[in-house]
Amino acid sequence: MSGPLPVVVLVSGRGSNLRAIDARIAAGELPARILAVLSDREDAAALSWAAERGLATGAVPQRQYADRAAFDAALGNVIAGYAPALVVLAGFMRVLGSGFFDAFPGRVLNVHPALLPAFPGSHAVRDALAWGVKVTGVTVHLVDEEVDHGPIVLQEAIEIRDDDDWDSLELRVHALEHRLLPAAVRALLQGRMVVEGRAVRITGEEP
Ligand code: GRF
Repeated sequence: MSGPLPVVVLVSGRGSNLRAIDARIAAGELPARILAVLSDREDAAALSWAAERGLATGAVPQRQYADRAAFDAALGNVIAGYAPALVVLAGFMRVLGSGFFDAFPGRVLNVHPALLPAFPGSHAVRDALAWGVKVTGVTVHLVDEEVDHGPIVLQEAIEIRDDDDWDSLELRVHALEHRLLPAAVRALLQGRMVVEGRAVRITGEEP
């Protein structure tokens, strides 16, 4: 495995996906180094955790900017300052504009708690339960300028049980996210991700 590649992680909430990535790095299973954890919310629990863990942190609150383009530009500038090989959206709840992605082409990953294109948006677990689907899951995708839209990297299903409620389903969704997101990060950083239009293949033997 080559040396660790610089990664910036964007968070808005608890940061369990951030912790999952950090744990895989600590275990020597991910060729990555988290250069910074950034958030749109100064009070995100994920930021406090990252600071305690000794990681560089920063907040870029959207309300401090005149419009979304200004926010995108500010956040993009902060991230670009770290020259990351990869930007991971790990529960980052802001929609980013196309200007943002131009700066990091094919290098932004997001995790979504449903089987896209079903149940996009910020309440995917609740929406899947409300719809009565029997199967939901987790999607890791490359991010483009449309919400929950870019090419799908990894996707795995979870069966919904008759007695599931939000808490029980969310628990299984999170457990799956914690496996799939680091796996996608690993494949991308190892150069094993081939993107052809919307189709993403993960190639080769793991080094
Ligand atoms: C995850 O379910 C992710 O799919 C969604 O937001 C949640 C973040 O959880 N986008 P956490 O902050 O990583 O615990």
